[in-house]
Amino acid sequence: MKFFLDTANIEDVKELIETGLVDGITTNPSLIAASGRDFKKVIAEMCELVPGPVSAEVAALDHVTMLKEGRHLAEIAPNVTVKVPLTLDGLKTCRVLADEGIMVNVTLCFSSGQALLAAKAGAAFISPFVGRLDDIGHDGMQLIQEICLMYANYPELETEVLAASIRHPLHVIQAAEAGAHVATIPPKVIYQLLKHPLTDNGLATFVKDWEKTGQKII
Ligand code: G3P
Repeated sequence: MKFFLDTANIEDVKELIETGLVDGITTNPSLIAASGRDFKKVIAEMCELVPGPVSAEVAALDHVTMLKEGRHLAEIAPNVTVKVPLTLDGLKTCRVLADEGIMVNVTLCFSSGQALLAAKAGAAFISPFVGRLDDIGHDGMQLIQEICLMYANYPELETEVLAASIRHPLHVIQAAEAGAHVATIPPKVIYQLLKHPLTDNGLATFVKDWEKTGQKII
């Protein structure tokens, strides 16, 4: 499963890029607003740092303007993935951009029916929002399972399931178990995945016992 970072904070990316874990980035208008920075500058910097897909979301709601914005965003760098909402106008825009060879990430997906429409519109990625479904008492991960099952019936389909709205490490593990192609993960959750008290305790013991040997490796 590919790991994308769900952030517009360039420092988060710089910190984690050395781990080799960062296969791409997703941003959205809320993350950009939280960064307090110029949208197109953030995307350009992200595309420089990460060779994989970097999602940049349109702001318009109508197809004509979405298309203009999407083409403009795609000019920033070859690895820009234009993000459009799962609306009729978003699907129309997805179709045109995909036919022009531009990667599209269809976002704000909350049902397998919507995911089917996005695939037929030529989406490179579909972003089902797991956490936001959980937040209202639904089973967000079940949606990932449903979509993966549905898409698996059509091996020729190129749309990748990008599990989004990830809230904690279990979402990442369950997305992988369900067969999602990608999980877009807040940096905080990456660090939570990494941490285990038994690892910390075991390492402390190894250090203490090694010091007792009085030896050096180099
Ligand atoms: O960026 C898309 C998605 O990951 C947003 O998640 O946490 O705002 O529900 P969240």
